[in-house]
Amino acid sequence: MVGKITRAYEREVKEGDVKMASPKFGMSILFFFLCISFCSSTDQSFQQCFSSHLPPSNITYDVIFTQNSSQYSSILQSSIRNLRFSNASKPRYLVTPYNEDHIQATIICSKEHHLQVRVRSGGHDYEGLSYISDVPFIVIDLFHIRSVMVDIKNEYAWVGAGATLGELYYSISAKSNVHGFPAGSCPTVGVGGHISGGGFGTIFRKYGLAADNVIDAKMVDVNGNVLDRKSMGEDLFWAIRGGGGASFGVIFSWKLKLVRVPPTVTVFKTVKSLEQGATKLVQKWQNIAYKFHHDLFVHAVIQVTNPNSNQNPTVQVSFDCLFLGTTERLLSSIQRSFPELGVTQENCTEMSWIQSVLYFAGYSIAESADVLLNRTTQSTQSFKAKSDYVKEAIPKTGLEGLFKMVVEEETSVLILTPYGGRMKQIKSSATPFPYRSEYLYGIQYMISWDVAEETGKRIGWMRRLYKYMEPYVSTAPRAAYLNYRDLDLGRNSYPNTSYVESSEWGLKYFNHNFNRLVRVKTLADPHNFFWNEQSIPVLRLE
Ligand code: FDA
Repeated sequence: MVGKITRAYEREVKEGDVKMASPKFGMSILFFFLCISFCSSTDQSFQQCFSSHLPPSNITYDVIFTQNSSQYSSILQSSIRNLRFSNASKPRYLVTPYNEDHIQATIICSKEHHLQVRVRSGGHDYEGLSYISDVPFIVIDLFHIRSVMVDIKNEYAWVGAGATLGELYYSISAKSNVHGFPAGSCPTVGVGGHISGGGFGTIFRKYGLAADNVIDAKMVDVNGNVLDRKSMGEDLFWAIRGGGGASFGVIFSWKLKLVRVPPTVTVFKTVKSLEQGATKLVQKWQNIAYKFHHDLFVHAVIQVTNPNSNQNPTVQVSFDCLFLGTTERLLSSIQRSFPELGVTQENCTEMSWIQSVLYFAGYSIAESADVLLNRTTQSTQSFKAKSDYVKEAIPKTGLEGLFKMVVEEETSVLILTPYGGRMKQIKSSATPFPYRSEYLYGIQYMISWDVAEETGKRIGWMRRLYKYMEPYVSTAPRAAYLNYRDLDLGRNSYPNTSYVESSEWGLKYFNHNFNRLVRVKTLADPHNFFWNEQSIPVLRLE
């Protein structure tokens, strides 16, 4: 009997007769399928609700997965980057929409069933907020919504929120070798979370953040309506470009402005240990990297070296450069402004922009760009990260103390990213990301480990480091980057969050833009349906 119904259903779908003789009949068959794995009446009721809110032509039976489904675990694990959260509370359902109708139905039914919604694009959230929660919840995972449509003539792309940066870069390079997009270096990061949280990478000194290059967006709001830039209005469109999409709805597509890159770019990497004068180089780097020409990006990566050999561990600093131009132009600039680095022609490699994407992602530039299409993260490590912004160069004594702490933890990594260039020209209120003209550089602190027992020790070290850095970094507020999410900064109470409580972390991420975000949130989601530990709060209007 089951086989007969299955075959009948498959036949109808195959023959394109998805209208189905009667919608009711279609839905009951769909429902029958899901009942095979949906055991409780709550599950059935959610599924029924979901089906009843879909146009009959859009009914699909592999969208919702319960904890009993054989695919549940593999889908849930597929993009978990931080293993610190792999044993956390699990969603009641995983919803894997193919289109906006599925997202609309999910929002409506989650509200009806009092289930919190977590939205996941690439799953790289540092605190796992896209797939864990302490209250009954579902995860909407957008990995099916990842088409990329590139229009080179008009220099834009529409990209599904579930696409990765790698898929975006690959698709652009497949059509043009003189176009790119200014976003992050890790190809498995999802465009949904990345762009809605800001998004910077190796060409942001020339073109700004990913969020600065969004032309339009499509999202489903709290009422299940599909909105684009025009219908959402400029306030909400402003908020989702850096304020974190999850506070406002489910973004399913971005229209992005492509940027021009030269056919030849140049990279170099120079590594110096403390014994080779790294402290002096960092001192100088702090004062010049933000003033470099906007075609030149040199970040400094601080790590421990020789941790496993007989020698005492020491700190090394790697200066990694991307230059939007040829070696000749690069050398004439870097040898004049930073001769101490000792960069010569031999250190430099010319390549195409897409090869530089491979290079910064840790691949060989001889690899085919196809590797950027690999979405699987398969991380075996837990990590904790934090961020800071620097307005005045850290003195030598401050750096020395920092390096002493770094050497205590062999898996620590600090990345110092120079600002200036285009970032200096964009107004700090243009998007919710406020840290523009006054900042020399941003810092990411990260520590990773693979043994569960080490969690307390490693996080303890990270918190001590953060405390140590306090006198050297921005204050009032102590600035932080939303995309390097850090729940140590504060978290909302559930279900009602006060403005004062959220200001603890909100001012750090958004500074003076926080109040505008609160106003937008209050209008867009007055009942705070899209709550999470660091969602924008709603003003309670007495
Ligand atoms: P994920 O799916 O976990 O989402 C992150 C947040 O956004 C969650 O709150 C989620 O609910 C919300 N969200 C996701 N999709 C949404 C949607 N469609 N609609 C509404 N809300 C949505 N950053 C950077 O600027 N430059 C860089 O070079 C890097 N590099 C990097 C490397 C690695 C290895 C990691 C783990 C992270 C980075 N990042 C980064 C940080 C990264 O930008 C940040 O973690 C992003 O939020 C990740 O977006 P995902 O979609 O992958 O995460």
